[in-house]
Amino acid sequence: MSQLTFDADSARALEAIYMTPDVVAQRGRVIDLLAPAAGEHLLDVGVGPGLLALDLARLVGESGRMVGLDLAPAMVAAATARLAGLSQAEVRIGDAANLDLPDGAFDGAVSTQVYEYVADMPRALAELHRVLRPGGRALILDTDWRSLVWHSSDPARMDRVLACWDAHLADPHLPAKLGPLLREAGFTVRRTEIVPMFSPRWQPVSYAGGMVRTIRNFVRANGARFGLDDAELQAWWAEQEALIAADAFFFSVNRYAFLATR
Ligand SMILES: C[S@@+](CC[C@H](N)C(=O)[O-])C[C@H]1O[C@@H](n2cnc3c(N)ncnc32)[C@H](O)[C@@H]1O
Repeated sequence: MSQLTFDADSARALEAIYMTPDVVAQRGRVIDLLAPAAGEHLLDVGVGPGLLALDLARLVGESGRMVGLDLAPAMVAAATARLAGLSQAEVRIGDAANLDLPDGAFDGAVSTQVYEYVADMPRALAELHRVLRPGGRALILDTDWRSLVWHSSDPARMDRVLACWDAHLADPHLPAKLGPLLREAGFTVRRTEIVPMFSPRWQPVSYAGGMVRTIRNFVRANGARFGLDDAELQAWWAEQEALIAADAFFFSVNRYAFLATR
């Protein structure tokens, strides 16, 4: 299975999606749940283009510390540029499953839309637990793609397309397992909530507006391995264009936030 790759082009596409009102609101909710304080030391695992890390770095201020790490050099470059000039911020290459950081170094950690890409979750959560101080908070948010409601008059064809899309992740259904995984790693789950990405009609500047193109590009590149030929994919996409033109587009998917403490 080829997962989504995070090169310079996809970093730019992701940045555009992450600036839509849906994802801006998600970042606000993540920050509310984590409740960062001035002077705290925070970690962002899978920092991506650094939008959340920038907000967090400003909140901890110069007396705090904000470390962002990511496996993809293009993401580290984007986040480094975004956080340039903030003395409390540092961005580096790093793997969620093998954190090159000392024990107990952080008051809090965030990881949004990252662990679903990680194959060895027990190891990744053991690492997260290790680098937090006793009582430290972790805020994890991931999508369960089973929560997707994306309207089509041909739901069987939509299911075949989405089976291919599921391959972009190590686990497209991670949230349903996250509670037990966190507890097994030694965390106490304090709070859980749904963060919806909801487009009841077409809006180009929205999470759905960006993601449908990302999904289309992924299934075009990978569909053959799932028995999807060009004609079927063209018919699937033509229907979505027709629904958009008829003001009958509908897309809704849930992210699941877990606040846990060490
Ligand atoms: C969908 S993006 C989310 C970015 C960011 N957390 C956000 O919400 O804006 C997923 C990110 O996870 C990173 N990633 C995937 N697997 C990783 C791993 N094992 N360790 C660190 N980063 C990883 C990718 O490179 C990418 O930047």
